[in-house]
Amino acid sequence: MDKLKKTHVLKGRPNPKQKQFFMSKTRFCAYGGARGGGKSWAMRRKFVLLALRYSSLELLLLRRTLNELMENHGRPLLRELNTLAKYSSTSRAFLFPNGSRIRLGYCDKEKDVYQYQGQEYDVIGLEEATRFTSEQMQFLATCNRTSKQGFYPRMYFTCNPGGVGHAWVKRLFIDRDYTQYEKEEDYTFIRASVYDNPVLLKNDPNYVRILENLPEHLRRAHLEGDWDALGGQFFPEFRVQRHVCDAFEIPSWWTRFRSMDWGYSDPCCVLWFALGPDGRIFVYREEYAQHVLSSEMAGRILARSKQEKIAYTAASPDAWQTRGLRHKIADGVEGESIAEVFSKCGVSLLRADPARIAGWQRVREYLAVREGGPLLQIFPCCKNLIRTLPLLLHDSHNLEDAAGSEDHAAEALRYGLMSRPKKSVITKAKAQMPYDPFSEQRSGPGFMGR
Ligand SMILES: Nc1ncnc2c1ncn2[C@@H]1O[C@H](COP(=O)(O)OP(=O)(O)OP(=O)(O)O)[C@@H](O)[C@H]1O
Ligand SMILES: [Mg+2]
Repeated sequence: MDKLKKTHVLKGRPNPKQKQFFMSKTRFCAYGGARGGGKSWAMRRKFVLLALRYSSLELLLLRRTLNELMENHGRPLLRELNTLAKYSSTSRAFLFPNGSRIRLGYCDKEKDVYQYQGQEYDVIGLEEATRFTSEQMQFLATCNRTSKQGFYPRMYFTCNPGGVGHAWVKRLFIDRDYTQYEKEEDYTFIRASVYDNPVLLKNDPNYVRILENLPEHLRRAHLEGDWDALGGQFFPEFRVQRHVCDAFEIPSWWTRFRSMDWGYSDPCCVLWFALGPDGRIFVYREEYAQHVLSSEMAGRILARSKQEKIAYTAASPDAWQTRGLRHKIADGVEGESIAEVFSKCGVSLLRADPARIAGWQRVREYLAVREGGPLLQIFPCCKNLIRTLPLLLHDSHNLEDAAGSEDHAAEALRYGLMSRPKKSVITKAKAQMPYDPFSEQRSGPGFMGR
């Protein structure tokens, strides 16, 4: 009776999919696979119900980083548990009157997982499991054991496709492809999408439209929970017909800037950008060469820029590393960085933002199909950028990152677009139009209204 009274203060009722999650009896149970399906709510509530139902239960709820954890679960739990449990900020745990404890944890760095070595948890939950590496998951599984009679230890997972753990989550819960040490009957997957979450559908109907408007592969992954969507080509939206425009004389008053992905043994790629008055960016020139010394590359850049006024040149951070013997003998003073050589030759470099995932996302925003054409247009002379951009693949270790043997032009593009303030993408961009493959027009000077 007392227990009933206590659970009664918890607000909300599980939807049918969440009920299935609550009732699961297998050792490993994953919920979700798409955005907004009520995964975090279900995980949190399941933990609280277990802590109330059993005494002296040890539960560990993890997210990859501490910040995410506190936002995602710490704050909501503080609100929800109000009178049901005491929070200890030193142990980052909720302590229940029956002796049960929900501890909040994280594994930001790979080795952070060892802080749980030697500890025993009856229940472990991995929120956004695809953010954890398979090594972290395997180690955490070794901490999941119980000494309580009648209680079976278990692990719960919530997940979306994509992320460093995409492959192991997909293998265990989607493909159900097991090794001789894994038992199929230990694994349950409860597929849920935003359409299974009536609370969200009712309170925020626009959210579904946001998911429906995502680029195709992200829509398939985040709305439909398609685990195969985030594989293969990294920029499936790139089309020559859509992103390559006829060359034209760039007005002298447009802002111009450059970006460079430095390379000597690998190709070095330099791109020239022009910013149109409507926020569109034109890549109008490229220099792509291998085995060219930094001083010579700087000379080529200056020669090709002629009298153009260039605002800045964003360059890959490796240009600030001091170089080894080859560089010393052939191209400057011992210990001098590429950036210093460039500067001496008259090209000062600006350190580019190296954030990869955010950078690729920025490239995607510029490639996105919009009314009037994408925000990024490339002149046909940029042959290597046009050739290699569609060759980029999803990195199999981290599907939100790109991989490919020839990514130099794409990297230069990323550095260039990341050098622009984000605001300009958002404020200048017009509403995104659904992609219609049958209405593609080659984007010539006409579409830009010049
Ligand atoms: N059964 C429920 N009762 C009340 N509110 C709920 C319920 N299930 C989910 N919600 C609410 O719906 C919203 C989305 O749920 P939640 O954050 O759990 O989804 P999610 O699948 O974790 O989303 P994401 O993919 O963004 O991580 C939240 O505001 C949550 O509180
Ligand atoms: Mg969530």
